[in-house]
Amino acid sequence: MNATVKTGKKHFPVMLNELISIISPLYSGTFIDCTFGQGEYSKAILKHPGNKVIAIDRDKKTKFHAENLKEIFKDKFYFKNIKFREINNINIDSKNLKGIIFDLGYSTNQIQDPEKGLSFNSRGKLNMQMGLNNFSAHQVINYLEQKDLEKIFKYFGEEKYSKVISRKICETRKKKIIDTEDLVNLINKTKLNKKLKIHKSTKIFQALRIFVNKEISELIYGLMNAFKTLPVGGVIIVVSFHSIEDKIVKFFFKNYSQSKNLSRYLPEQIKEKKLFKLKNTKPIFPSEEEIKNNPPSRSAKLRYAVKINDSENFDVFIKQFKYLLDIENLSKKI
Ligand SMILES: C[S@@+](CC[C@H](N)C(=O)[O-])C[C@H]1O[C@@H](n2cnc3c(N)ncnc32)[C@H](O)[C@@H]1O
Repeated sequence: MNATVKTGKKHFPVMLNELISIISPLYSGTFIDCTFGQGEYSKAILKHPGNKVIAIDRDKKTKFHAENLKEIFKDKFYFKNIKFREINNINIDSKNLKGIIFDLGYSTNQIQDPEKGLSFNSRGKLNMQMGLNNFSAHQVINYLEQKDLEKIFKYFGEEKYSKVISRKICETRKKKIIDTEDLVNLINKTKLNKKLKIHKSTKIFQALRIFVNKEISELIYGLMNAFKTLPVGGVIIVVSFHSIEDKIVKFFFKNYSQSKNLSRYLPEQIKEKKLFKLKNTKPIFPSEEEIKNNPPSRSAKLRYAVKINDSENFDVFIKQFKYLLDIENLSKKI
């Protein structure tokens, strides 16, 4: 779950101060906000009169917030309702592009939206689509084979009871169509005597959200296309909320910021180039005060890197996470 919390009318974007201190040396530039949401990051960046923001969000309901910003900031702000893996399809004058920002996950508005059914507190037909999707959780739970469900729960939810839960889903759906309450009840019964720190359905719901929204390929191709769009000297910043996202971001930045030359006698063009300068090898976490004011921010991690070289080849990156992309591709069976 993400940390943009709506309390009354106020939003709490996670690690906004940290984000601003990273990008402010690059001010009087254009920034791409890949996860516009309620627009709190974009608004803060636009406070500096020399900045422009290009914002993206897959959820069409965020257009409302985008229209508000457009009224205030006019041609300094541009919004498009697309997924961030399509970032390279926007016509961007990359000359003055200084940074690309990803604040992954969901806003609390989305989690609380009954139409989306992202939460285990939702009711009725399973859904979990954030926007611009091809299928819903209803199809996943009611039609995919037991062994496929098991893989999704195990790898996208890190759920210990993947096998038994998938078996029970397949048994139950012979008798009835499974909706949100049925799924929660079924998981509760499976873990009846287990004492857990988190809600019993958290991991299965995380797995389904990742699968339905193709979050793995979105992130992998989003990062690669962001890299290709950004000129040398620009910064990529990612705030992640669960360990699978962070594993992908960490690998992307660390792997391409290390020189893996086998021999110093190899000709220069054969040596693999470093693509990033990493200021911190460790992630940045929210302050204690932020966590106190906005408890969901406790699972956030911010990583960033400055691009120092161009490259078209990300085979190693894709290969590293092929096992997750293969699971995501099980959706072709729906
Ligand atoms: C955590 S919220 C962002 C909050 C935002 N930083 C703010 O200040 O209000 C994440 C947003 O990213 C969007 N999102 C998630 N995955 C996306 C994707 N692949 N492409 C485009 N938008 C995405 C969600 O719809 C959601 O609105």
